[in-house]
Amino acid sequence: MLSVKKVTLDYELSLSGIDGFPVIGWEIESNQRNVKQVCYQLQVSDDKYFDAVLFDSGVISSDASVNVNINEILLHPSTRYFVRVKIKDNHGEESLWSTAAGFITGLLDTPWSGDFISAETLADKDNSKVTLLRKTFSLNNDSAVASAYLHVSALGVYQFYLNGGKVGNDELTPGWTSYHNHLLYQTYDLSEQLKPGENAIGAELGAGWYKGDMGFTRDRNYYGEQTALICQLVIHYEDGTRQIVVTDNSWRGDDSPILFSEIYDGEICDASFEQEGWNKTGFDDAHWRPVSLVSYDKKVLTAQGACKVKKIATLEPTSIITTPQGDTVIDFGQNLSGWVEFKVNGNWGDKVILRHFETLDAQGNVYLDNLRSAKQRVEYVLKGGATEVYHPRFTWQGFRYVKVESYPGNVSPENFKAVVLHSDMAQTGQFNCSNEDLNQLHHNILWGLKGNFIDVPTDCPQRDERLGWTGDAQIFCRTASYLMHTRNFFAKWLRDLQHDQTPEGGVPHVIPDILTGHCANDINLAEGGTHSAAAWADAAVINPWTMYLMYGDTRVLENQYQSMKGWVDFMLTHSENLIWRYKLQFGDWVALDAKEGSYFGATPTDLVCTAYFAYSTQLFSQAAKALNRTEDFERYSALHQQIVQRFQDEFFTPSGRLAARTQTAHILALYFNLVPESFRERTVNTLVELLREHDGHLVTGFVGTPYFCHALSQNGREKEAWELLLKDDFPSWLYQVKAGATTIWEHWDGMKPDGSMWSADMNSFNHYAYGAVGEWLYRSVAGIEADADEPGFKHVIIAPTIGGNVSWVDAAYDSVYGEIKVRWQVRQSSAGDIVTLDVKVPHNTHATLKLSGIGELLSARDMTFKLQKNSGFAEVGSGDYKVEYLRA
Ligand code: BGC
Repeated sequence: MLSVKKVTLDYELSLSGIDGFPVIGWEIESNQRNVKQVCYQLQVSDDKYFDAVLFDSGVISSDASVNVNINEILLHPSTRYFVRVKIKDNHGEESLWSTAAGFITGLLDTPWSGDFISAETLADKDNSKVTLLRKTFSLNNDSAVASAYLHVSALGVYQFYLNGGKVGNDELTPGWTSYHNHLLYQTYDLSEQLKPGENAIGAELGAGWYKGDMGFTRDRNYYGEQTALICQLVIHYEDGTRQIVVTDNSWRGDDSPILFSEIYDGEICDASFEQEGWNKTGFDDAHWRPVSLVSYDKKVLTAQGACKVKKIATLEPTSIITTPQGDTVIDFGQNLSGWVEFKVNGNWGDKVILRHFETLDAQGNVYLDNLRSAKQRVEYVLKGGATEVYHPRFTWQGFRYVKVESYPGNVSPENFKAVVLHSDMAQTGQFNCSNEDLNQLHHNILWGLKGNFIDVPTDCPQRDERLGWTGDAQIFCRTASYLMHTRNFFAKWLRDLQHDQTPEGGVPHVIPDILTGHCANDINLAEGGTHSAAAWADAAVINPWTMYLMYGDTRVLENQYQSMKGWVDFMLTHSENLIWRYKLQFGDWVALDAKEGSYFGATPTDLVCTAYFAYSTQLFSQAAKALNRTEDFERYSALHQQIVQRFQDEFFTPSGRLAARTQTAHILALYFNLVPESFRERTVNTLVELLREHDGHLVTGFVGTPYFCHALSQNGREKEAWELLLKDDFPSWLYQVKAGATTIWEHWDGMKPDGSMWSADMNSFNHYAYGAVGEWLYRSVAGIEADADEPGFKHVIIAPTIGGNVSWVDAAYDSVYGEIKVRWQVRQSSAGDIVTLDVKVPHNTHATLKLSGIGELLSARDMTFKLQKNSGFAEVGSGDYKVEYLRA
């Protein structure tokens, strides 16, 4: 039976607050094989029963089931809409209407009637206190409320309340963006929560990224000096009338019991200052102060429909220990980002003081040094009496361990839990195999993502940094996009990248850019500038391209097109005869072939720059092709050819030796296809030689590491790629696993075999960058590969890399068409190793199976399987398939 399951809007199950009609997608369910959609029909209504249909597409002959656009419909602001779909397939079956997916519009073109209001003054510039704002209002109609939608944002970080209850379940709103260009507002449905008569609304406002203390140079007030709130509550009554409640000078303000809150340093709350019922009706706010109006360009307010930070999970302590130095430490067993929520009984004035940190030192004592100046400290002063429960809300901590510096009573596990925070994205990747260390590595990569996807892709979540370093986000983008549904997360960040680009197209090192103009104390940045480093700035091209590849999404390419082009043109402008470099370059950052104590790896900068110049130019030309911009496609593909030629002339000797004898130079040349075909074998052999010189270990940094396994396996060296992946002594991915890591470390030698550590000035234990090897697990080990000609996995290439003495792998990727599954298993038999491969191809897609190492084919039902020497190929439609063969 044919049915439509899971209708998505802008790739989400529902959206609350959008600026334009979302793109629509759906997954198809059927018990048949080889299912292709032949037509669809879409309807839009503003009632969930579709009694009044506002838009009917009619029957459209098309196989499109993702990225479907309808623009004809005129949307009203602050209104809920529903979308449903039905389809017919190539077997003549017709589905029923799908369950409807719903979205709520934002304010669209309606101007904001309210103002930004603040309980602070300019004298609070250096203050990090939390303030309160409140107002009561009465419903001005006896008619029932038909709908009530709140649109709200802030300069700072806000929590909003209605009649004493928190509105929505988002945290750290409105998130972090290039605020002067792009400030997000959130939309909440209060239709069921308003009560007849009087209602109270209120908000708490913290400094957050907006005016707080940020960046390793510890500056503050990057965007402004006062926190402020803006909201517009739109109430529609059943009788057709409307009421609007906004932020204006009728609100009152006061200080909250949270005396201090900063992203790096934590929170101080004195509960004895709590004002019972401050966010409810009936509260006497006569002693509160009037609010002031803050002028701010409201045109930059943009609706955010999804992907907000949420409490995702809670973890219990795994143990409570007393360190050799006598500290009481709670271990949550997992390095994570979020809060500790605690319960406490005590007297007025008793204190709970917690310090959050990542790792114990070699002696088993508390290790805070790598947090640098970030205090990660939470202090709570009890009001006394009944049980009190608290967690901070305007900050977060990166930690596995918590040192309890003060707590009235016994520190027992039931009184503490860790609340895991990250941007709300569905997990799309699953990977399990017979090797437990690899499973732990996959777990660590996933948790590296969780800990660092708090609204912005950050380098690390614990020390005084937590910045959107472009290089880190670039190298991890593809891995992240296998693991989780990153489309809206990256689309948001890329918009800020575009806003913060220099007029010449240069790309800042961090997005949102808070380094420019704030780095006088950092010699490297002060002298070398704050933008345009190879592999970092290339996020401008690689990340949108990755979204296209993974989701088939041309919208993100359209939106980023000028940004992508700007970056490629920047490199061209700053190149000399197509070899480029520019001011400060990070090169193969933190590679082990760096000079003692240096962060800069041995691979020459101009080689890294020019390799990325070629790669980004190639991807940009492909983006131009995908958008039918023929002129740009032709121009930039020709430019790409020229850069490749220059690279070869400059960096290869006439006899085929790559002049820079580093692992990373060879990896880049191979992976970016910069090697003349006649030199390929020599280049691959040298790379293997360079591995052997280090006893099979990598010495690569941020630039070489992500592609190392690919450069080997794509060139017939699958065995060496597996060996590299499975190395478990220093330095290697599994060395960290064996050392008990639960996330990915910044340095291969973050913790050395003798227990000593890399210098504390730069030693994060939750840095996802080297987790970029996750891409190899999905694309090569499981072999779930995308095809740029039919992106979004409309065409799936299934080409697993069997090896490494791993006896089975069970992996899945939940694509926009549905789940792609690959399971392979190797069994020993008297005739040799038997490989069984089970795959699942989603409906309305097709797949190519590419298998190698086949000795004898045992079975391949429901497909035409072509054998060529030891390789086998099959083209299949949707459905489940099994292939069995004897290994060569
Ligand atoms: C960050 C890195 C980043 C690098 C650039 C560091 O401080 O933590 O991950 O990419 O600086 O140099």
